[in-house]
Amino acid sequence: MIDTNALSIRPEQPDDARAVGDLLEAAFGGPMETGLVERLRADGDLVLALVCFGGANLVGYVAWPRLRIETAQGARSAVALAPLAVTPLRQRHGIGSALTRAGLAQLRDGGETLVFVLGDPTYYGRFGFRVETARAYDSIYAGTHFMALKLGASAPENGRVRYPAPFDSLS
Ligand SMILES: CC(C)(COP(=O)(O)OP(=O)(O)OC[C@H]1O[C@@H](n2cnc3c(N)ncnc32)[C@H](O)[C@@H]1OP(=O)(O)O)[C@@H](O)C(=O)NCCC(=O)NCCS
Repeated sequence: MIDTNALSIRPEQPDDARAVGDLLEAAFGGPMETGLVERLRADGDLVLALVCFGGANLVGYVAWPRLRIETAQGARSAVALAPLAVTPLRQRHGIGSALTRAGLAQLRDGGETLVFVLGDPTYYGRFGFRVETARAYDSIYAGTHFMALKLGASAPENGRVRYPAPFDSLS
């Protein structure tokens, strides 16, 4: 096991972009997520993005794009978790979990109330994400892998979830 105490997590800086792109491509086996993150950054769509270093090496990355929830009372804000990636040789040693927990804590501290993720319910369930919670919201991603986690009592109860434009080219 990797000693997670030896890992450091911090917000990404402009100088990290190249290494982040390489990590995403290695983790996902193609350029799609690298392009997605580049477009999200360029459009100012990221609420938060965290890098994880093991010594001098970038070993993990997570981005949190801004979402808009259209409700009968008007537009509200939420956040997505996408993408999350750990460099292949360091997967399954707690890095993805550490990044997810660090990001959720920062978002909660920053006043965010609602987070969505599309992924494996067994994995994301450990952080509190639930398919049942997401069912109250309309989304093109709705289904067995679309989950939500409320971080605050003032989270919108329902509405239509709108992802930023760079996600349009993925579907
Ligand atoms: C998915 C990913 C981010 C998880 O990060 P990680 O650091 O490897 O995972 P952690 O060490 O935090 O968690 C390990 C646990 O998650 C499980 N797990 C890891 N990857 C998983 C996956 N793709 N699907 C389901 N479960 C997964 C492991 O079985 C392990 O379970 P256990 O604790 O019961 O033994 C990482 O494996 C990765 O980058 N994968 C390729 C890119 C990807 O698929 N990203 C997610 C897109 S939604």
